[in-house]
Amino acid sequence: MKSKDKNLKMKNKIKNKKELKKNKFPKGFLWGVAYSSFQVEGGIKNNNWWRWAEIGKTKEKVGKACDSWNRYDEDHKLAQDLGCGGFRLSLEWSRIELNEGEFSQEALDHYKKILKNIKKRGMKRIVTLWHWGLPLWFVDNYGWHKKESVEFFGRYCQKVVDELGEEIDIFITMNEPTISLNKGYLVGVFPPGKINPWSFFQARKNMIEAHKKCYNLIKKFLPELSVGITQFCNTFESQRILKKLIEKFQDFYNWGFIKSDKDYYDFIGIDYYATFETKIFPPAFRRKTTKNRWTDIGWGIYPQGIYDICIQAKEKFQKPIYIFENGLADSEDKYRGDFIEEHLEYLKKAIDQGADVRGYFHWSLLDNFEWNLGYGPKFGLCEVDFETMERKPRGAYYEYKKIIENNGL
Ligand code: BGC
Repeated sequence: MKSKDKNLKMKNKIKNKKELKKNKFPKGFLWGVAYSSFQVEGGIKNNNWWRWAEIGKTKEKVGKACDSWNRYDEDHKLAQDLGCGGFRLSLEWSRIELNEGEFSQEALDHYKKILKNIKKRGMKRIVTLWHWGLPLWFVDNYGWHKKESVEFFGRYCQKVVDELGEEIDIFITMNEPTISLNKGYLVGVFPPGKINPWSFFQARKNMIEAHKKCYNLIKKFLPELSVGITQFCNTFESQRILKKLIEKFQDFYNWGFIKSDKDYYDFIGIDYYATFETKIFPPAFRRKTTKNRWTDIGWGIYPQGIYDICIQAKEKFQKPIYIFENGLADSEDKYRGDFIEEHLEYLKKAIDQGADVRGYFHWSLLDNFEWNLGYGPKFGLCEVDFETMERKPRGAYYEYKKIIENNGL
């Protein structure tokens, strides 16, 4: 080989190595998948969302969902085979506290089995205490807008800490409280179906208090555990003329809950799906997309938003960040592989610029019950046949697996 060619080859090799490093995530980065109890377990009848579906407020009834209450080991195996270091799931309050003050040891023992199984398969347990489903006794007699909710949620949390605390590695008290608040108390499309700003502010205040109460008691019994919430974060781009206003709105929408008392959050949990753009001339408030890509439920694919949101979080809080949800409804798996890759490229860029991002969890491992939209939207890395309950990895499952194996792109 001529020496010129040799030099070129060498140069390329070095360049490739640099590229490789550039796209590597930090050592120990936590790769994972996420789902929530109500959306996958099936048969949770003592619950406000079950009732919401039964009275026709969702596209379909819930039924057996993915039957993960029984098939959890298959799910854990799929995540383990993917190479995950973490598995995010939630506990269902309505299974655990059947009536006011009456706890089900059977349900607690079953959750213990599930959590131990995740550990046995070599993954960390990221546990959400409340992912939107509530027991009927609670919603019929109280609800988040009543002050008693703080006490009751605290008592449920205490029970979980006593019974399951040792089986939890990262503790998320609440999943996206603001979404549940907005849709349940302002827009009326989630239970309790209210359109009532006064109740909204009462409920919001109580949720903030309930989180703080849980934070204190978890820390008292399990001081080493990281505790926080996960927040649905949109980014909003705007014309200069609207900038100040939009920034204020964004600050309240994304961070208002956490900002009420930053000391009660060990990390910032982010669920990122989409970005909006606002304009006065011509007037517009619409979703952004790159390359004109839209998911099956009309959300624009806009990977840069994950970078924007992490930079916002870094500047506002200087705390560890986890992406606890990021994904898309894509029944044909047309965009999912690229979606993951492009979001991770931007996530890496945020890390390179100082955001302390510790993990990424894809939503979701399985197709599941997508709230008002029923079983239509397919968010799964694995397809689920809801007749046979068979789980089948989609192409993107293998693309994500490769990324995890390389600890990067
Ligand atoms: C929720 C999930 C939901 C996902 C997709 C998130 O807001 O936490 O439960 O399935 O978005 O809509």
